Amino acid sequence: MVMLLTGGAGYIGSHTALVLLEAGYEVVVYDNLSNASRESLRRVERLTGRTLTFIEADIRDTARLQKALTDHAVDAVIHFAGLKAVGESTEKPLAYYENNVGGTLSLCEAMTAAGVHTLVFSSSATVYAASDDMPLAETAPTGRPTNPYGSSKLMIEWILRDLQAAQPDWSIAILRYFNPAGAHDSGEIGEDPNGIPNNLLPYVSQVAIGRLPQLSVYGSDYPTPDGTGVRDYIHVMDLAEGHLKAADAIWGQPGVYTWNLGAGTGHSVLDAVRAFERVSGREVPYRIVDRRPGDLAQCWANPQKAETDLNWRCRRSLDDIMADAWRWQSQNPEGYGRD
Ligand code: NAD
Ligand code: WQD
Repeated sequence: MVMLLTGGAGYIGSHTALVLLEAGYEVVVYDNLSNASRESLRRVERLTGRTLTFIEADIRDTARLQKALTDHAVDAVIHFAGLKAVGESTEKPLAYYENNVGGTLSLCEAMTAAGVHTLVFSSSATVYAASDDMPLAETAPTGRPTNPYGSSKLMIEWILRDLQAAQPDWSIAILRYFNPAGAHDSGEIGEDPNGIPNNLLPYVSQVAIGRLPQLSVYGSDYPTPDGTGVRDYIHVMDLAEGHLKAADAIWGQPGVYTWNLGAGTGHSVLDAVRAFERVSGREVPYRIVDRRPGDLAQCWANPQKAETDLNWRCRRSLDDIMADAWRWQSQNPEGYGRD
């Protein structure tokens, strides 16, 4: 079976490429390298002992994408490509809508033209309405996201549902990720953010390695056990395995399926810092600062539907996430380098 991964050179895509190659799939990665390095895929090939096809191109180039789907006799697409920096999206809304929404429209057009009707989409827990009622099941109401990034994910979910209603032979999985973190346990591939990280885990790792002086903890007055924000951190390898299970489950089963991919447990910022310090043996200096605008007090998943339908659940712990994030960071203090 041939899988095309848009954005497959990025953080989650590269780990998913590895899992798919190990499971015997043929993999075509289609990525414009706007937020990734070709080196991630070289390492995936080295780790698996298999080769993949890499196409450096943009998903908004519909003709190029259609040609890639046809030339490589692609069976299904996993759609990771997009811009993901929440703060940047409020400064550049048009770039986010154009890349994420426009890029997805282009992908759907190319898939229609090429006769490929199986799609797995990277959505996000950010589509849920703010709620005090945790954990979040897929039936929880979606909201009005507080930033264009989140809105783009919700818009894409609507577009995919409308597409499948109009063309019922499509099989579409919408995967709502919680907080992906960690790295492959070899320490060879991992998250390599451009510039100063926005997300907690890469920030903590860069403080531990000495690239950044100190972590700012955004608020300690939330209504949570220790006052800091609570999130559902999911190991990126568990997440990658979820894609394989979802793609298998929807193959030949037309419809739209929505699954939460989360661990089902909430951890506070200070829990995460302490776990990182414990497994790395490094101190992570931090100070408490004001809340970050737009942040929720708490967010964690009810992952029962994925367990029932896909026979999938997270197998790796918070300590595994921290140990693997640290192995990646300490073996690659400067990330991949952008070559
Ligand atoms: P990433 O930035 O590492 O990967 C995205 C990849 O898409 C990059 O390799 C980038 O070069 C590529 N890309 C971007 N625009 C493109 C375009 N127009 N054409 C071709 N390639 C393009 O991000 P990630 O963390 O691996 O996220 C993957 C997907 O999962 C994204 O859609 C993201 O929104 C979603 N997601 C991520 C998180 C998270 O916290 N990391 C959480 C929920 C959902
Ligand atoms: C986690 C916790 C922060 C950084 C974001 C997106 C979401 C999804 C995942 C894509 C929060 C705290 C963080 C720091 C801190 N992405 N924190 N100091 O905000 O849950 O989710 O990434 O879909 O859409 O919004 O993740 O890692 O930024 O924050 O105290 O320097 O860590 O306040 O409680 P978040 P995060």
